[in-house]
Amino acid sequence: MNKLIYELRGTVNYLLYRWVVRPIIFLWEAEKAHNKLKQFGLLFVSNKFGRGLLKVLFYYQHSSLNTTVDGIKYDNPIGLSAGFDKEGELTDAYPSIGFGFAELGSFTGDRCPGNPGVGRRLFRLIKSKSILVWYGLNNQGAVAIAKRLKSKKFSIPIGINAAKTNDSNYFDLQTSIDDYLKTLDEFKNIGSYYTINISCPNTQDGEPFVERENLDALLSALDKVKQAHKPVYVKMAADLTTDEINTIVDTCLEHKVNGLVLTNLTKPSMSGEYFKEELTFDKGALSGLPVQRISINMIRHVYQRTHGKITIIGVGGVFNAQDAYEKITAGANLIEMITSMIFEGPQVVGEINRGLVALLKKDGFSSIEEAVGSRNPLK
Ligand SMILES: Cc1cc2nc3c(=O)[nH]c(=O)nc-3n(C[C@H](O)[C@H](O)[C@H](O)COP(=O)(O)O)c2cc1C
Repeated sequence: MNKLIYELRGTVNYLLYRWVVRPIIFLWEAEKAHNKLKQFGLLFVSNKFGRGLLKVLFYYQHSSLNTTVDGIKYDNPIGLSAGFDKEGELTDAYPSIGFGFAELGSFTGDRCPGNPGVGRRLFRLIKSKSILVWYGLNNQGAVAIAKRLKSKKFSIPIGINAAKTNDSNYFDLQTSIDDYLKTLDEFKNIGSYYTINISCPNTQDGEPFVERENLDALLSALDKVKQAHKPVYVKMAADLTTDEINTIVDTCLEHKVNGLVLTNLTKPSMSGEYFKEELTFDKGALSGLPVQRISINMIRHVYQRTHGKITIIGVGGVFNAQDAYEKITAGANLIEMITSMIFEGPQVVGEINRGLVALLKKDGFSSIEEAVGSRNPLK
């Protein structure tokens, strides 16, 4: 397709989503809309025609977007972030939409109902371009999900995001480590990489793996898993002090973790970048624009701290190609997103990729790899 047709397709898709589809979806309460969208998506991608239509509507590819990270080949660097597909149900949809990869989960060792108040755990802050999330890691549990996915063939790299079951406010180190290991073991032959989520801001026992001793014990237990062929990444919280960031990063380096996912959601008390009147619930944490600046600052810092030697997956408030490019040139090898897809529609994936091709060209780069960290020279 030539440039003009892509531009026309992007504009029509945007207008349709913004003025027809989104107003309908936003009539539902947010958690209900999330579930309905998944049901609709499942129906849509269960046949070749549906998948083909998605491809015609949204797919975009260009050779300058191809990238290899930790030995895994990606057609493009834009991936779905953890939390949208908490049961790993829509893996047939993501390649047709044009995602380069998708991170599923978070999956926990045991089945987890999440926080109480089903139907009141997700809130849209439209003006603030953010979602307040109070899910608390609801999912069917690693055993059931792995059983369903074990014979599935994936056409793009799939990340398995593992978290600790959120079922008690009592923290026991060994039980928690075993919980992660259970998920990793269940998924040992499923997916391309693991993400260890130590940063869910909505759990009953807080974020105990921010403490060096706890993280050290967890990563020591994971050392065995790391030798088992898949890259392991650690997902960090947004709301950390510089000392906490350095401690986590240095501990990850000591354990030869392959990379870091930066970042998870931010607590409203930590980010000032939202309209206060839109915050109608006193729990949870924010996605989207309020986390954008925090994420970019952390990417810049961690890229320097690690001398660009480990993988960075940048996530938080990526709404367009410029946002993605800012993270890449700050040091991110790959990008993830959720909120922009909900606010702007699925065409945003192809539009970001298309914009990235133009931005790479403008700066004289022939690949994503060349652009990584280019505006954050190592000191
Ligand atoms: C509805 C929702 C659910 C989420 N659940 C998870 C989760 O289970 N595990 C996780 O690691 N991150 C979770 N996240 C955080 C995202 O993966 C991501 O780090 C964050 O939303 C920032 O990206 P965004 O601004 O593109 O949404 C969730 C985010 C949203 C919006």
